[in-house]
Amino acid sequence: MTLTSLEIKALNEEFAHYDLVEALKALRQRFRRKIAFSTSLGLEDQVITDAIFRQNLDIEVFTLDTGRQFPENYTTLDATTKRYGKTIRVLYPNTEAIEQYVSTKGINALYESVANRKECCAIRKIEPLNRALQGVEVWITGLRAAQSAYRSDMQLFEWDQARHLLKFNPLLHWSSTEVRHYIADHAVPYNALHDQGFPSIGCQPCTRAIVEGEDERAGRWWWETANQECGLHDGTNAPAFKTINRLGL
Ligand code: ADX
Ligand code: SF4
Repeated sequence: MTLTSLEIKALNEEFAHYDLVEALKALRQRFRRKIAFSTSLGLEDQVITDAIFRQNLDIEVFTLDTGRQFPENYTTLDATTKRYGKTIRVLYPNTEAIEQYVSTKGINALYESVANRKECCAIRKIEPLNRALQGVEVWITGLRAAQSAYRSDMQLFEWDQARHLLKFNPLLHWSSTEVRHYIADHAVPYNALHDQGFPSIGCQPCTRAIVEGEDERAGRWWWETANQECGLHDGTNAPAFKTINRLGL
């Protein structure tokens, strides 16, 4: 199903009035086919997971295990499934592709060029993501506008042109303080690294702690200057994405 820009605009206007739980329930009622939520197990995503699991909503929660994650991610995954007594689907990279990449280029080739880094992200994240999203009508993410200039142009609902599905970012207008308060108020399990200078947590080789005054995403792919995105969210029609694409990054 393809939605017109007018239909997406109407959804954006309607859902702007809902709180998180209302929005997830309304979404589940509105769309008949599969809805899936991708969790990195970061703070924002733990908020959404909590809402989905506590409301027993028929929404698949999945995570991409790139094979290069911090040990703390696995602790969080384990604590979360145990806390709610629910399943989180875990996707892994294609075995042959990753064996080929590491054997020919090297385990840390991602530092050697942007092309190598993007290839690593393509194998470890994007291909498994695309697999997880097959047959999905609505994809939920934990993106927030305040995380970066690139994300500030995003909408609650966006059409993912590349994957031909509707993307929903229910925490788009939340501040990091609101996220923290939700986690504390609902005693949601969270990654211990968030208390050690890591507001944003990706793969271990590509994430460092930040210092006061730095952007939330400054610790992601910190050695690259252009664009702190890995391509997971490049399929949308955000104007900023078009600009970045034109620059060929
Ligand atoms: S990233 O693109 O830079 O890695 P970020 O860590 O900010 O993304 O997370 C933004 C959203 O992307 C998350 O809310 C989640 O929906 C999705 N995401 C990122 N990493 C993963 C992952 N490993 N598994 C599943 N979803 C992820
Ligand atoms: Fe590879 Fe780093 Fe991308 Fe993870 S974030 S998939 S380690 S390049």
